[in-house]
Amino acid sequence: MAENIMVDSHVWVEDPDVAWIDGVVVDIKGDQATVKTNDDREVIANLLKLYIKDDEAPSEGVEDMTRLSYLHEPAVLENLATRYGLNEIYTYTGNILIAVNPFQGLPHLYDAEVMEKYKEASFKELSPHVFAIGGIAYREMINEGRNKCILVSGESGSGKTETTKVLMRYLAYFGGHTAGEGRTVENQVLESNPVLEAFGNAKTVKNNNSSRFGKFVEIQFDDIGRISGAAIRTYLLERSRVCQVSDPERNYHCFYLLCAAPPEDVERFKLGDPKSFRYLNQSSCFELDGVNDAEEYLATRKAMDVVGISEQEQDAIFRVVAAILHLGNIEFCKGEDADSSSLKDEQSKFHLQMTSELLMCDSHSLEDALCKRIMVTPEEVIKRSLDPLGAAVSRDGLAKTIYSRLFDWLVNKINISIGQDSNSRRLIGVLDIYGFESFKANSFEQFCINYTNEKLQQHFNQHVFKMEQGEYEKEEIDWSYVEFVDNQEVVDLIEKADKKKETVHEREVELSNQVEEAVDMSCVLHSEPSDDAETGDEHYPKIFIRADSGLDKSFVMPSEQSGDEEIEHERQTKHSILTEDGTEKSIVLESEKPYNNFSVVSHITNPIRDTEVESLTAEVEMLKALLVVEKQRADISERKCAEARELGERRRKRLEETERRVYQLQDSLNRLLYSMSDQFSQLKSILRSPSMSSPMATVPVVRDDLADSSENSEASSSDSDFTFPAPSTSSADNSNLQVIVQDLSTTEAKGTENDKERGFEDYF
Ligand SMILES: Nc1ncnc2c1ncn2[C@@H]1O[C@H](COP(=O)(O)OP(=O)(O)OP(=O)(O)O)[C@@H](O)[C@H]1O
Ligand SMILES: [Mg+2]
Repeated sequence: MAENIMVDSHVWVEDPDVAWIDGVVVDIKGDQATVKTNDDREVIANLLKLYIKDDEAPSEGVEDMTRLSYLHEPAVLENLATRYGLNEIYTYTGNILIAVNPFQGLPHLYDAEVMEKYKEASFKELSPHVFAIGGIAYREMINEGRNKCILVSGESGSGKTETTKVLMRYLAYFGGHTAGEGRTVENQVLESNPVLEAFGNAKTVKNNNSSRFGKFVEIQFDDIGRISGAAIRTYLLERSRVCQVSDPERNYHCFYLLCAAPPEDVERFKLGDPKSFRYLNQSSCFELDGVNDAEEYLATRKAMDVVGISEQEQDAIFRVVAAILHLGNIEFCKGEDADSSSLKDEQSKFHLQMTSELLMCDSHSLEDALCKRIMVTPEEVIKRSLDPLGAAVSRDGLAKTIYSRLFDWLVNKINISIGQDSNSRRLIGVLDIYGFESFKANSFEQFCINYTNEKLQQHFNQHVFKMEQGEYEKEEIDWSYVEFVDNQEVVDLIEKADKKKETVHEREVELSNQVEEAVDMSCVLHSEPSDDAETGDEHYPKIFIRADSGLDKSFVMPSEQSGDEEIEHERQTKHSILTEDGTEKSIVLESEKPYNNFSVVSHITNPIRDTEVESLTAEVEMLKALLVVEKQRADISERKCAEARELGERRRKRLEETERRVYQLQDSLNRLLYSMSDQFSQLKSILRSPSMSSPMATVPVVRDDLADSSENSEASSSDSDFTFPAPSTSSADNSNLQVIVQDLSTTEAKGTENDKERGFEDYF
């Protein structure tokens, strides 16, 4: 933005602390300008990186940013900041609403009076508000009879879930039933939020109530615009959190709520201080500011009542939650046999007992399931002991599976309870996914979350910028191109990974199968080196592959802000990676190139530890046994294949033989027809000759077996070798010929193949 900038221009210049600071240009030399900032500093900056400041912008900001004289980043941020300072957290950009998180309750923004006001007003008639978005979606749905979707997007902690809840409340108000109609659909939809949040939200570094799953709520309306049903779809719950929590984050809220439950529940489930449970005490954060877990527990149960989860089902749900906590406390030590494991101590026995009681299963079977691996082959079931490390992995795997199944069950239960309106022809969908996050070490799940956000951003770019500007171009409208950061390359980086090399998914699968071979593992996310990449564009994720035993977290993406030093640090630190059980893993991640094409290679360098050698040896033995079984199966398959081939060959020969006979039959038939027509000609000429006018000559010529049916025959013969009536143009002659043809077809239809063939042969 170098145009129009001269000495004395009022401009925005980048600042490391406050993003943008305004000042006046005091000098320009070449493409460098000296700016005197409003805090009396002199900053030298490239002219291209300066942006004109609009001195005439209203001091209270503008409600719609399309009204800004200069639409660039500092102007947009300045406008949002100005309005935020006046407690105006909502601003439009055309039809898009931007919400700035107030991080404080603003009840006056959402009370019934405001709702009523917005209900009556048309879009943009009143100041920007999320109610206006809900209102226009509802009205357009009704008026145009079209389904609508509201997409709430933003980074983690930006307020998506809160905004979604406000939206849903407003839609319930708009399309709700009158008071006193009992447990209404809209109440159930609204109360599903606290239930899902208790089981699917957790405290993260960025957000005390971070959604760890994606959610799409489909609110269905009847013909008169009242809510008649709803469906909740959830996506990709972060499973790894159940057994792995980093400081200062927390596990899912429900664990802490249950520990703070009334004493009788705590006693019933043999719970207590969250600090005593391994799945919770990996982090030092147990409580949340301003949140009383005991009250939240009761509130959650109340919400469950509204949603339609019975008392008995609620008990069962919390029993499973308690079981997972006990399960996490089961520890293992080396067993009597090599590579086997057993319960470490009395405490572990107690927790195993509690887990099995709560899950209502046999404790010996549970112990067996944890300490042994069962492999089912078509021929047999192979049971193999696991070492303590393997048993711990198995324990955590079970915990994650139980938890995610519980979550899915809950969602399903809520959906059944709310009920869907199969007759509904109109709906409004609200999408609230987990927001973009970038930490020093990001899990594979985080990678998926970020990828989802990139895709949504791309969708947004596509609709707001690309398609719109494409239309302008098509219509040859004179407009000034709006610059935007296109994330297409980021999306391509992930979606168009070099097929010849391993894809992210394949890597994940491989790692999750724990095939960590002591060879180079080229794990590559590849993109064409671009100028941006070379200049270290911060928008590119730098992706590392991490092989840890958790395996739900196999990818490391250093933070976007990583400078080269930090990357170098990553390279060093990845030499020792903490595994889930706290031991160091001997994997090194090292960049092949300095990250500009994102090719990453991982090596195993350090010697493998004894336990791992033992475990690998056992693994090899197991694989050998499997190989023998596979070989036997392959032999059987080969034999069956040879038999099938032989059978096929026999059938082919029979088919050829049949074909040959059919040709012969056809040939005979042709010859017969030929001879028939010849004989007909002869007969005709005989009939035309004068000697045939004697009464003797009128004796019909009929084959014995057709004599009865030849009432209309005018010509017949006592000569049995010559049985066919001559072709004639007269209808009487034609009917005789039909009789014969019918006879043949009757034989054909009734007889078997052989009979038919025999019939033909006899006939000829
Ligand atoms: N409109 C609002 N009014 C008051 N507080 C808000 C509002 N929006 C957000 N907050 C505050 O910000 C916190 C984080 O918001 P929210 O959980 O909605 O973020 P999010 O975008 O859904 O994050 P994540 O992607 O991690 O799920 C809320 O717990 C709440 O304290
Ligand atoms: Mg959220």
